Amino acid sequence: MAKRFYVTTPIYYVSDVPHLGHAYTTIVADALARYHRLRGDDTRFLTGTDDHGQKIARLAEAASVSPRAFADKFADAYRAAWRALEISNDDFIRTTDPDHEATVQDLWRRMAEKGDIYLGDYEGWYCVPCEQFYTEKELEKGHCPVHKKPVEKVKEQSYYFRLSKYQEPLLAYYAAHPELIQPEVRRNEVMAFVRGGLQDISISRTTFQWGVPVPEAKGHVVYVWLDALTNYYSATRRPALAGFWDDDVEIVHLIGKEISRFHAVYWPAFLMSAGLRLPTTVFCHGWWTVDGEKMSKTLGNVVDPLVLSQDLGVDAFRYFILREVPLGADGDFSHEALLTRYNAELANDLGNLLNRTLGMVHKYGIVPKSNIDPFDLENRVSRYSKHMEELQPSRALEELWTLVRKGNAFIDEKAPWKPDAPRPQILGDVLELCRVLSHLLEPFLPERAVEMRRQLGLDEPAHFPSWQSRTFAPTVATPLFPRIDEDRKKELLAKWTPKREAPVESDEDQITFEQFQKLDLRVGQVLSAEPVPKAKKLLQLTIDIGTAKRQVVAGIAETYRPEELVGKKVIFLANLKPATIRGVRSEGMILAAGDEQVVALSGLDRDAAPGTKVR
Ligand code: MSP
Repeated sequence: MAKRFYVTTPIYYVSDVPHLGHAYTTIVADALARYHRLRGDDTRFLTGTDDHGQKIARLAEAASVSPRAFADKFADAYRAAWRALEISNDDFIRTTDPDHEATVQDLWRRMAEKGDIYLGDYEGWYCVPCEQFYTEKELEKGHCPVHKKPVEKVKEQSYYFRLSKYQEPLLAYYAAHPELIQPEVRRNEVMAFVRGGLQDISISRTTFQWGVPVPEAKGHVVYVWLDALTNYYSATRRPALAGFWDDDVEIVHLIGKEISRFHAVYWPAFLMSAGLRLPTTVFCHGWWTVDGEKMSKTLGNVVDPLVLSQDLGVDAFRYFILREVPLGADGDFSHEALLTRYNAELANDLGNLLNRTLGMVHKYGIVPKSNIDPFDLENRVSRYSKHMEELQPSRALEELWTLVRKGNAFIDEKAPWKPDAPRPQILGDVLELCRVLSHLLEPFLPERAVEMRRQLGLDEPAHFPSWQSRTFAPTVATPLFPRIDEDRKKELLAKWTPKREAPVESDEDQITFEQFQKLDLRVGQVLSAEPVPKAKKLLQLTIDIGTAKRQVVAGIAETYRPEELVGKKVIFLANLKPATIRGVRSEGMILAAGDEQVVALSGLDRDAAPGTKVR
């Protein structure tokens, strides 16, 4: 039975261009949307960008552009990327869209009318990259538990939302709707968190202005997460998605597991307060690492979905990430694995099936007879559907590949090249299989599925197949996925895999021991530390180096707070030529680890007095 289905992705921060992680959520959502359209469901698919908040305001300031211009640039990058990846969203929402801002204010008013918002003083910790408040207890050694970076002290007047009031209603709702939070492990995590007790949360800020103004409260902007979460609802007040917050709609929010608290606790509570329905399901997927490591700019291993799609085809990239990990589990991305699956499953299994089938139809010049379905198609297709309904695209693909392999095995076994083989029947059967596949693959391989239908000479748009045989007008086969040979593989891997800085190899790059001895390295102890005005990355330090005290400017303010540094012993380069940095004289340098950004300071594993030589 056709239904109404609405799927969303998180709206992405406009802080950079999209990478593998963002592409993943969006491609999974796209596959689900395409599947439901195929079924004939009235379907809507929404994605967009999260433009507001302190993070974006600061990045814009650092880039010396307005937050609006900064946001526009990356919102455009997201739009372009989704076009290139064949993403079929019905709308693209930005939190700076005026109609969205009006809905945020509406929601605020409804929550206020309910008596759920009150004014107070907030004092606590804030992590700007997370855009999240933390209690002392949640911090790990004073650092954000997610980003492992120092948090900032926030002390300002703020509006609060009575989240505590919703503890019991939420628990009752979770119990009555086990489908709300998926998979099971996330549901348990979220329920344990709520059972542990909910505190009211701060939902406005006053120390910056890049956000939606709080109605009737000058100087306050709405907390960026309340603003962002509202996008799912505000889009349904636009023509393209009108009515898609009605009770009968199946609403699926697809998100990464790190933002489950916002989606499965705060968002449902806001909706309850505003008297609106809740989503049907919040599905939390896992995280991708790359060759076993966290993806990060510092490591230089960020996977660019556009590069891979250009080199290998959009559909090959989509196929890999949809197939490689079951939705909900963490996964590891490897370029080698991508190429292996490409050759084995796309070029060999699927590509060959179509190629040999069409090749034989031409060679024997026969009219295929209608099929008798030796592939147990109906059964397989209903399993495929079940997996898609259960948000398991990797399993649906496995089901389809069982069919693809059965098709190849069938050709081998029936050997239509033998003179006495019943060719019209055999070829009719495999042609029919190819036809069905060209429809069922559409959610995953939207571009190649069209090409399959073109080669089969089927003039039909993708739809859920019915089982009557069709008239085919097969054209000449061209490989769907041309094989990647060893040379090309090497070439691609060299291009894709980031070059890590190799150990020094040439004589020119080496230094002699005498040269090294010229470095006056000593133990230094930090006596004082303070920020350098108007320079977010810099701290001004005084260092005791035994024989003297030195003033230095160090680019470590994003990793260390001044008060953490006082008393620390570090390795100090004492004979560096002095320089003036941002108007402050700097005489020497402390050694630290990190490429673009410092991740840790040098130190000593045992105590040694300031001034002790380091060699
Ligand atoms: N703006 C918020 C979301 C607001 S939704 C109301 C945000 N944006 S984000 O740009 O940081 O994107 C987060 C999403 O990107 C995650 O939920 C996840 O979907 C995806 N991913 C980012 N890195 C990822 C991986 N390494 N692996 C898989 N997905 C991850 O949070």
